[in-house]
Amino acid sequence: MSVTLIRGKPIAERIRTEVAEQVKEVGHIGLVTVLVGDDPASDVYIRLKHKAAVEAGIDATDLRLPAETNEAELLAKLAELDANADVDAILVQLPLPKHIDEAKVIRALEPAKDVDGFHPFNAGQLYLGRQTLVPATPLGVMAMLTEHEIQLDGARAVVIGRSDIVGKPMAHLLMQANATVTICHSHTRDLARHTLDADVLIAAVGVPAMVSPDMVKAGSVVVDVGINRTEAGIVGDVDPGAAELAAFMTPVPGGVGPMTIACLLQNAVRCARYRRGDIDYPA
Ligand code: GUN
Repeated sequence: MSVTLIRGKPIAERIRTEVAEQVKEVGHIGLVTVLVGDDPASDVYIRLKHKAAVEAGIDATDLRLPAETNEAELLAKLAELDANADVDAILVQLPLPKHIDEAKVIRALEPAKDVDGFHPFNAGQLYLGRQTLVPATPLGVMAMLTEHEIQLDGARAVVIGRSDIVGKPMAHLLMQANATVTICHSHTRDLARHTLDADVLIAAVGVPAMVSPDMVKAGSVVVDVGINRTEAGIVGDVDPGAAELAAFMTPVPGGVGPMTIACLLQNAVRCARYRRGDIDYPA
């Protein structure tokens, strides 16, 4: 049986076209991204997010603050953006410099403007299975699974990685879709015992090729969220040899990557709709 590749690009392009139409309906959507310091990877991500936002007709502002910015200065800036009626959505690029308390900064965001869905209120809403802003990468994964009509109801889903940005929200979305979810992480004993049981395997660890083909169940769906820069170029968390066993698999690059930005733009539309009262923000 040959693998079907779940490519993100065409799905992301369609979502971005839909977002562009929604932006016209809503009128003005203001997105401010905040990057503190000059981390090269963050710089690349911010540029890509901007380009996509502008292409969709979103009024995006690329706010750059020096690495020396202290926590109080950043919090003052966020308070200003929270209060600014032209700003619908705010994104603080992570990681922040070490001298800034990330959790405190995320808590300072107005939850209805938290386009990343990282604020504890939004995370709590997701935990409770209620409508909210949800982190873009797991939303992107769900859109890919839906596109390929992957059966989640009753499926055994295994998520490797328990980050706040991917692993935890991913597990909640899969559970809401009625999958039986196992979360594995760096302390999991006998990881393969879990992964070999997975109908749907999501790898989100950030370790190149850590999921070897012998850890993948035949006929399963494998989603590789890893984007690891190595001497051999960008590689995922899953050894590409797993494609010999999987029925469906996301490639790296060209898999989940493009979906994150597309779903972030969807979230920006959601923020704007909350602020206009088109949909009720559950606060
Ligand atoms: N750093 C790595 N991924 C993300 C993301 O999705 N959003 C933000 N704000 N920072 C990140």
